[in-house]
Amino acid sequence: MPTQQAFWDRVARKYAARPIRDMAAYDATMVRTRAHLHPRDRALELGCGTGTTALRLAPHLAHLTATDISGEMLAIAREKAARAGAENLAFAQATVSAAPTGPAPGYDVVLAYNFLQLIADIPQTLARVHDLLAPGGRFISKTVCLGRHAWHLRAVVALLRAVGKAPPLRFLSAEELEAMIRAAGFEILETGDYPARPRSRFVVARKPANVPPRA
Ligand SMILES: C[S@@+](CC[C@H](N)C(=O)[O-])C[C@H]1O[C@@H](n2cnc3c(N)ncnc32)[C@H](O)[C@@H]1O
Repeated sequence: MPTQQAFWDRVARKYAARPIRDMAAYDATMVRTRAHLHPRDRALELGCGTGTTALRLAPHLAHLTATDISGEMLAIAREKAARAGAENLAFAQATVSAAPTGPAPGYDVVLAYNFLQLIADIPQTLARVHDLLAPGGRFISKTVCLGRHAWHLRAVVALLRAVGKAPPLRFLSAEELEAMIRAAGFEILETGDYPARPRSRFVVARKPANVPPRA
């Protein structure tokens, strides 16, 4: 079965050609995200894919570094950014553990859309996000939450994975996800479901302002 990188490299052109499945939910995500951004913010995006969201949010930020594990997804993102003439947007091929550390004392915002459900070790990823953020920084994410008990869906996904048509995928509940975000040291400021079915959990979380850097 393909790894995340091999899967996304292979499907990149097809993924880029597909229209956004639920435009109203996407627009709601962008509106709620922008409410938490400031034009002075320096941001990092994890799993940026083909850069659609990075291009949409970069005009509302001082700078955005958009990262992804897949070179093919990034190649498309770079093509789109060049066509758009985006100047405050940089791309880097990296997993979370190798993501550029950015400005001291850390990023103002870390973004991750349709991403955490693909990650094997979510607590480790959240700890890294916490480290990458400045005190008071925000972690804004949207995660597909198919639920822990969706046995029929698990069977379908297992079948799709076996024929290389789905990436490695976690079955999370929104409650489980939010508990992991809190356990990583964040306070949750806002949540929403965009869309409600299949549940895509939007979470805005904040690293407390008085947290000293990890030793
Ligand atoms: C479902 S796509 C979402 C892309 C984009 N965020 C969006 O909402 O359209 C997931 C992306 O995460 C990337 N990805 C998967 N695992 C990753 C990892 N461990 N580190 C960095 N990127 C990863 C994939 O290459 C893919 O581009």
